[in-house]
Amino acid sequence: MSQISYELTIQPENQKILVPSDTTLLEAITEAGVNITAACGGKASCGKCRIIIEDGNLPLPTDIELSVLTEEQLRSGMRLACRTKLDSDMVITVPDTSRSLEVRILMGGASHPVELSPNVSKHYLELPTQALTEAVSLFNHLCRTLDLRADASLRSEPALSLSKGQALRADLALLQRLPNVLDAWNNKLTAVVCDGKLIALEQGDTTKRCYGIALDVGTTTIVGALIDLTTGEDVATTSMVNPQSTYGHDVISRINFAIGGEHSLDELQLAVISAINQIIASLIKSSKVKSEEIYEMTVVGNSTMFHLLLGIHPRSLGTMPYVPVVSHSVDVNAADLGILQVNPAANVHILPNIAGFIGADSVGAILAANFDKAEDDSIKIMADMGTNCEIILRKNDQLFACSAAAGPAFEGAKIKHGMYAGPGAIESVSLNDDCEYKTIGKVTPKGICGSGLVDLGAELLRVGIVDATGRMLAPDELNDKISPQLQKRLVKNETDGILEFVIANSENNAPITLTQRDVRELQLAKAAIRTGIEVLLRQAGLQLDDVDELCVAGGFGNYLNKENAIRLGLIPEMPLARIKFIGNAAFIGAKMALISRDIRDRADKVARSTQHLQIADTPDFQTLYMESMTF
Ligand code: FES
Repeated sequence: MSQISYELTIQPENQKILVPSDTTLLEAITEAGVNITAACGGKASCGKCRIIIEDGNLPLPTDIELSVLTEEQLRSGMRLACRTKLDSDMVITVPDTSRSLEVRILMGGASHPVELSPNVSKHYLELPTQALTEAVSLFNHLCRTLDLRADASLRSEPALSLSKGQALRADLALLQRLPNVLDAWNNKLTAVVCDGKLIALEQGDTTKRCYGIALDVGTTTIVGALIDLTTGEDVATTSMVNPQSTYGHDVISRINFAIGGEHSLDELQLAVISAINQIIASLIKSSKVKSEEIYEMTVVGNSTMFHLLLGIHPRSLGTMPYVPVVSHSVDVNAADLGILQVNPAANVHILPNIAGFIGADSVGAILAANFDKAEDDSIKIMADMGTNCEIILRKNDQLFACSAAAGPAFEGAKIKHGMYAGPGAIESVSLNDDCEYKTIGKVTPKGICGSGLVDLGAELLRVGIVDATGRMLAPDELNDKISPQLQKRLVKNETDGILEFVIANSENNAPITLTQRDVRELQLAKAAIRTGIEVLLRQAGLQLDDVDELCVAGGFGNYLNKENAIRLGLIPEMPLARIKFIGNAAFIGAKMALISRDIRDRADKVARSTQHLQIADTPDFQTLYMESMTF
C-alpha cells in the first residue's frame, strides 16, 4: 500500500515539502534544512523543538507537551516537533526561540609563541638542463634540484628526506603530469612538499601563497581559522553552529542517533562535513585565498566528533568501558573525507584523543595552556566546562585527566527557559532591590544562558531565596530583608505548582523564570565538576590549597563571573587572582598544530602519557558527589 504524504509549509521561509504521514515534524524540518533546536535529539526530554501549527489539524497535546508548554502556548498551536506527525497538509512556524542560528562563539584565547615549522613547504625551482653524461629521470632531477635549493633547515629535516632526493615520494597522477608541466612552464616551477611527499607542482614562483585551516569541531559549534603557513598569521576566522545539533544536543544523543538507523552515521558525518565545507567557503570568501592554495588542515574535537567526522561508528563510546575505536592522531586526504574546497592533495590531520570522553579538544587545550611543559613546579588545573566538563591536573611533569558529566544545563538544555548564548539570552543577573539583568545583543530577553544561570543561582543563594540544600523557599518562608519586589517574583507555576523565580518577561509577555527543577539541574552540574576536581586532587596526592592556578577554558567559562561561580560552588574557593580564563584553548591548540610539526609530536606524547581516571570508578565517588551537591 502506498504511503500517504502531506504538504508541509515551513514559515517564515515559506518552504514547502512533501512529508510521508509517519514522519515527525522534527525529521521533516531537518530534512528541509531548516535550523531547529533539538537538544535531546528528538527524545522528547528537552522541550526545545517548539513549533507553532498555523494551519492544519491540531493534534491533542501529549503528556510531555502538557508539562513543558503553558496553556496559552498550547492554545496558540504550539507543539513539540519531535512529537507531532502530519495527518493533513500543515503550515507551521519555527519561531526564533527554537532556532540556534546565532550563538556567541568564542574564537580567541591565550596562547604561547610557536616556532613556525608547518607540515607543508613550498620550494621554487628552476631545473637546469641536464648534461648527457649525468642525466637522471625527470623526477630524480627535480628531487636533486629540490635538495640543492632547499634551505639548510629543510635538508636536515629527516621527515622530508631531502638529503636523499630519491626518498621523496609522489603519486602516479603527479608523475603523469610531470613531463607536460616541465615543458609548458619552461622548467620554472614550485614544488609543494608535505611530510616527505611531493603533493603538487605549480607554475612559476608561488612560495608566498601557502595556507592551512585549523578547525575546532565542537558538539555545539564549529570554529575555523585560515592561516598563512609562511607567516603563521591568521588570515580569517569564522564559526557556525554544528548542524548535528538537530540530532541531539550532547554526544550521548548523537551516539544514540548513530546507533538508531542504518544510515544514521552517514547522516551525521555528512552534516559535519557539509558544515566544514561551509566554513571553508566562508573563510575563502572573506580573504583573497584560492581553495587550491589550502594544503593542510588540523582538527580538534571531542572523541565523538572525531569518530563522526571520520565516519567511524561511535557505539563503543556509549557503552562500558566507553573506549574509542581509535585514539591516535589520524591523517587523511581531505577529498577522501568529502572536503572539497581545498587543494585536492590537502591533508587533514586530526589530533589524538586521550580517552573516550577526553578528546583531541582537551589535547589542544593542554598544548595551548602549555600544561605539558613543566617549566616550573606549579600545580595547575584546567577545566573546560561544557555538557561534558574535561578536567586536567598538572603536577610537575605528570598530567591527570577526567571528564565530569555536568549535563547540558550550562548550554541551556533541561532548563525551562534555558537557551544557547545567542541574542536575547540573559547573560548576567544581579539581585538588589529588584532583579537586574543584561541580555546578549541588548535585546528583549528570550531565555537564559549558562553565565546568566550561574549569576542567578548565586544571587538567589546570597539573598536567601534558595538555601544551601538547593531548596527554593516558599514565599511565606522568605526573610523580611528581601525586598518586596524580589519577593513578588517568587511564584508557584499555575500549571504544575512548581516554585519559580520570574526574571523577566519576553517579547510576547510570557515570563522567563528559573524553577526549582532548574536549580536542581544546576546542583547536579556543579556537583559533577567539583567531584571531578576533587578526584584528580586525591589521585595526585594534593589538596585544593596546593593549586597555584585554575584555568577555565571554553566559551561558557569565559563569560563567567568568578565570584558568582565560587559562591555557587562551581569553582573552588580560591583567591580570584589564581583563576584564569583562557578562552577557546582547544581551537588555539588546533592552530598551533597547523603551523608546527613539533606541536603535533607534543600532542601525540600528551595523548599517550596523560593518566585518565574514570571518576565514577573511584572509591569515594558517591560520597564526594553527595557532599558536592550542597551549595
Ligand atoms: S523535546 Fe523535541 S527534540 Fe527535545
